[in-house]
Amino acid sequence: MEFELLILQCVLILCMWAMIMQRQNRRREVLGQLPPGPRGWPVVGNIFQLGWAPHRSFARMAREHGPIMTIRLGLMRTVVISSDEAARDMFKNHDTVLAGRKVYEVMKGSSGNEGSLITAQYGPHWRMLRRLCTSEFFTISRLDAMRDVRARCVNRMVQYVEEASTHKENVVDVGRFFFLMSFNLIGNLMFSRDLLHPNSKMGAEFFHHAGRIMELAGKPNVADFLPLLRWVDPQGIRRKMDFHVGRVFDMAGRIIKARLEAEGGKDFLDALLEFEGDGDEEPTKLSPRTINVIVLEMFIAGTDTTTSTLEWAMAELLQNPKVMIKVQAELRQVVGPNRKLEEQHMAELPYLKAVIKETLRLHPPLPFLVPHRAMNSCKMQGYYIPEDTQVLVNVWAIGRDPKTWVEPTEFRPERFMELSHVDYRGRHFDFIPFGSGRRVCPAVPLASRLLPLALGSLFHSFNWTLADDLKPEDIDMSERMGITLKKAVPLRAIATPYKGWATDGSD
Ligand code: HEM
Repeated sequence: MEFELLILQCVLILCMWAMIMQRQNRRREVLGQLPPGPRGWPVVGNIFQLGWAPHRSFARMAREHGPIMTIRLGLMRTVVISSDEAARDMFKNHDTVLAGRKVYEVMKGSSGNEGSLITAQYGPHWRMLRRLCTSEFFTISRLDAMRDVRARCVNRMVQYVEEASTHKENVVDVGRFFFLMSFNLIGNLMFSRDLLHPNSKMGAEFFHHAGRIMELAGKPNVADFLPLLRWVDPQGIRRKMDFHVGRVFDMAGRIIKARLEAEGGKDFLDALLEFEGDGDEEPTKLSPRTINVIVLEMFIAGTDTTTSTLEWAMAELLQNPKVMIKVQAELRQVVGPNRKLEEQHMAELPYLKAVIKETLRLHPPLPFLVPHRAMNSCKMQGYYIPEDTQVLVNVWAIGRDPKTWVEPTEFRPERFMELSHVDYRGRHFDFIPFGSGRRVCPAVPLASRLLPLALGSLFHSFNWTLADDLKPEDIDMSERMGITLKKAVPLRAIATPYKGWATDGSD
C-alpha cells in the first residue's frame, strides 16, 4: 500500500513538473515575440534599474532597446512606448484594446475601484461615467457658463499673492497659490463654493487629506510588483489610503448635505444627484459611494496637474528673462492698463499660449499618462503584446525627442509660434501631454482656458524676481515624481505689483 502511495506521489510530481515545463515553453514562445528590453533579475525584474526618475531611465533604455520596449517590474509586464510613431500606432490602430487601465493596489481601496472613472476598465460603465462628466462638466456651453467662476478664482489668487507679498517678507511660494486656486475652482464647479479659505477649518482639513491621498497615490508600492505581498500591505499604503479616503468621504458627505440645504445655481453635484443613467440601461441613480469617488477624482485629476504645470511655467519664465519680458510685453499691450486679463483676450495672446505649450512639452505633469492596460492580446509594430500587459506612454521622452524637436531641452516658446496649428488635443503624436484616443483627458477644454488665464494674470499684475538673491541660472529645476512630475524644490519668488501704467492711463 505504502509503495502504491509512493508511486502515486511520484506520478503526481512528474505531472506537475511536465505542466510547469509546458507552461514555461509556451511562455518562452510568447516571450520570443515580445518587444525587446533590458535583462532583469529573477523575481524583481528591472525594478532596480528605474532609479529616482523612471521617465529618464526609460528614455535612456529606449535609446538602446527601441521605441517599443518590454520592462519587467517584479511580476508586472510593462511595455513602454517612447516615440511619436509608436504612439501613433497605439492610438490609431490599437486604441480600444489598449484602453484598459492597470489598477494599482492603492487605487483599489476597501471596496475595489467601484465608481471610479479614472481607473474604470474600458466598457459600458466607463462610457456612462465619462459621458456624464464630459456632458455636465466639460462641454463648451457649460464652460462658457462657468467663465465668471474661473475669473473669480484667478482674481482671488492675484489678490492673495498681493496680500502675501505685502504682509510677509515679500516672498511667495507660488505653487501654494496655484494649488489653492485650482482646488477652489474645482470646489466651485462641484459645490458652488470655495473650499479653501484662510478661515475655513474644514477646508484646511479637506486640503490636508486630499494632499495625503495624492502623495500616497504617487508612491511606488512593492505590492503592485509582487502580488504575493498584496495581503501584507508591506508599506502600509493601502491602510493609510483607506484612512484618508474615509475622512474625505466623510467631509464630502457633510459638504453635500450643507450644499443641498442651501439655495444656489445648478452645479456638478446636482447633475450627479439627478443622473439616472444615460438611456443605454435601466434608469438607476448613482450610489453615494460613486458620487463621492467622482468628486474626489475630479480634485485628484485636476489640482496637481494644473498646479505643477503652472509652477514649471513660472520657473521657466524666471529662468529665461527674455521670454518673460516678451510675455509681459504682449500682455500689457493687449490687455492695457488698469484692466484685468480676461478669457476673451486669449485670441490675441499667441505667445502666452505658446509658453503654456512649451511648458507642457518639457514638463508633462503625467509623464507616462495614466497607465493603460491591454484588455486582450494584440500585435503592435510587429511585436506581441499579451493580455493584461501594462502600457506606459513616455510622453516626457516623446516631447524631448531630438528627431522631432530642434534643441529639445531648450525652453523656446517661439517653436510653437511657428507650429501654431499644433495643439494638445491628442492629434499630434509628438506632443500629447493630455494623452490621445478614447482615454484622452476629458478636461482639455477647461485646462486650455484656465492655464493661460492663471499664468497670464500673474505676469500682467506683477513683476517677478527670484527670492534669496538667486540668479536665473541658479534655479533648481530638479524633478520629484509623485502623482505628477513636480518641481522638487518649490519655487520662491518676489511679486511686485506692476506700477508701469502712466497716470493718464497709457502704458
Ligand atoms: C494641466 C492640466 C492637465 C493635464 C496635463 C492632464 C492630463 C491628463 C492625462 C495625461 C490623462 C490620462 C490620459 C490617458 O490615460 O491616456 C488625464 C486623464 C484624466 N483627466 Fe486630466 N489633465 C489635466 C487637467 C485635468 C483637470 C482640470 C481635470 C478635471 C477637473 C482632469 C480630469 C481627468 C480625468 C477625469 C481623467 C481620466 C479620464 C479617463 O480615464 O477616461 N484633468 N488627464
